[in-house]
Amino acid sequence: MSDFLVIGSGIAGLSFALETARFGKVTLVTKKQNTESNTNYAQGGIAVVVSDEDSFERHIADTLQAGAGLSKRPAVQAMVREGPQRIENLAAWGVEFSYYWKDNKKVLALGREGGHSRDRIVHKADHTGQEVEQSLAKRCAEHPNIVIEEHSTAVDLIVKEEHARKRCCGAWVLTQPGELKPILAKVTLLATGGCGQVYLHTTNPSIATGDGVAMAWRASAKIANLEFMQFHPTALYPSTTGGEAQAFLISEAVRGFGGVLRRLDGYAFMTDYHPLGDLAPRDIVARTIDREMKSRGEDYVFLDITGRQPEETRERFPNIHRVCLRYNIDFTRQWIPVVPAAHYMCGGVVTDLFGRTNIDGLYAVGEVACVGVHGANRLASNSLLEAVVFAHRAAESAVKQVNEIPKLPKTVELLNGSVGDSNEEEWVLAASDRFQIRKLMWDYVGIVRSTLRLERALRRVTLIRKEVEDLYRRTKLTVGLVELRNIALVAALIIRSALQRRESRGLHWTTDYPACDEAKPARDTVIWNRK
Ligand code: FAD
Ligand code: SIN
Repeated sequence: MSDFLVIGSGIAGLSFALETARFGKVTLVTKKQNTESNTNYAQGGIAVVVSDEDSFERHIADTLQAGAGLSKRPAVQAMVREGPQRIENLAAWGVEFSYYWKDNKKVLALGREGGHSRDRIVHKADHTGQEVEQSLAKRCAEHPNIVIEEHSTAVDLIVKEEHARKRCCGAWVLTQPGELKPILAKVTLLATGGCGQVYLHTTNPSIATGDGVAMAWRASAKIANLEFMQFHPTALYPSTTGGEAQAFLISEAVRGFGGVLRRLDGYAFMTDYHPLGDLAPRDIVARTIDREMKSRGEDYVFLDITGRQPEETRERFPNIHRVCLRYNIDFTRQWIPVVPAAHYMCGGVVTDLFGRTNIDGLYAVGEVACVGVHGANRLASNSLLEAVVFAHRAAESAVKQVNEIPKLPKTVELLNGSVGDSNEEEWVLAASDRFQIRKLMWDYVGIVRSTLRLERALRRVTLIRKEVEDLYRRTKLTVGLVELRNIALVAALIIRSALQRRESRGLHWTTDYPACDEAKPARDTVIWNRK
């Protein structure tokens, strides 16, 4: 039994573990090896106010502006104001950021990304996420109070009814040898990241299958704003890379560095659509690219960074340079073919400003959570910041609560279903279901939506879900099956949320309601599986 069970080893889970381990025993379970996460692939960096030319009020205003009326000011203020302290924490845990020397002093180098009115992106070249992930994972591995269980997939939360309230007491976890075991804990943190894998084209790695939202839903936690899936405008065109499941991101920082989007005929189109041109907010850039491609029947657009000095570009983006070269593109001389791809889930498990959900003992932080910062559209490089700030806040709350929490149950009910025998044949069905869901989400629930498309998608996903549940009952439990079940559920929840929003706002754009409904106060789409 642990004091704290942490599910997920990205920036949210690792930083929460480091903060709480001073006060109790932490068990951290993670699906693959401990460094595999969305965090590991973050490129641009962390938005934070550290320059004299910037101010908290500016960063708050930019974030609220991007959020299109749905960001919660208190959450945004907490994130922005506490940001500089959390960057210091990261540095103390060993994270190094790019810097330059000025008057014999080290000064953090700051990048610019879409929607930011100032240069404020702290980064480590173009591999900030890897730097954060590896430093924090190393710290956790060395900590005597933290036990890391790799290749361990949480399947469902263990929830008890107590005086008409629900309390989370841990989770069922599938280990690599295929054993299902309960891990009991006084506090459980969901830090399972996003759900990009619900879509056919995504910048997210294979772990991002929405497990946290699905587990929380089944446990009756409140979920909000799932219609706001953010599509990143510039992923390397999949045909270039042989169509790998994870699309390689070309950071927005490339446009912040002078990169220009061009049609195949070379025309630079973004200034026709927005005064900020190539640095317009992400939803607008993604929609504009989608429109240009569809209206011209073209499969991609180009990103041109050849206007900068080659040495400077190579030094600033060494990883993007290396990967592009692997596909025979030298970005110092050639334009990069790019397309939008599913990138970030702005909605998630509803929490207060301390990561607490509506289930006692259950916290959620990071991309899995919806604390109210991002609203209808996330500002670039705000998510690593949000995760580290609210992990700290959640840890402060959890360490206070951990001693007040009553003793954990001695026995837990067995997890329902999943007792069938292994049947290799059925994997054909599971793989086909996974592909079909991802494809129909891409085709019907993508950058531009309509009621007809959403209703068609819901009918089809509902049918596939029934088949998946049947497979889940018959077949021996595997990680693939756990993920498929979660992808199917999260897809249905995204569509349901999208159908509820009868307006276009931020990332949700529907041809049936093309305007933002200014007449009514902006509202979250909250859904809840009341059992
Ligand atoms: P993650 O880092 O995704 O970690 C989730 C963890 O949970 C993983 O360890 C995973 O294995 C584990 N997990 C999932 N399900 C289970 C389960 N069932 N059981 C056990 N473990 C589980 N944001 C920025 O602010 N700046 C950027 O520059 C930036 N660049 C990005 C570039 C790319 C390519 C991508 C994909 C995202 C980028 N983002 C960026 C977004 C940002 O990286 C993520 O939102 C953030 O890292 C999420 O952190 P997290 O800790 O919540 O989740
Ligand atoms: C990027 O580098 O473009 C990604 C930044 C982000 O998603 O915040």
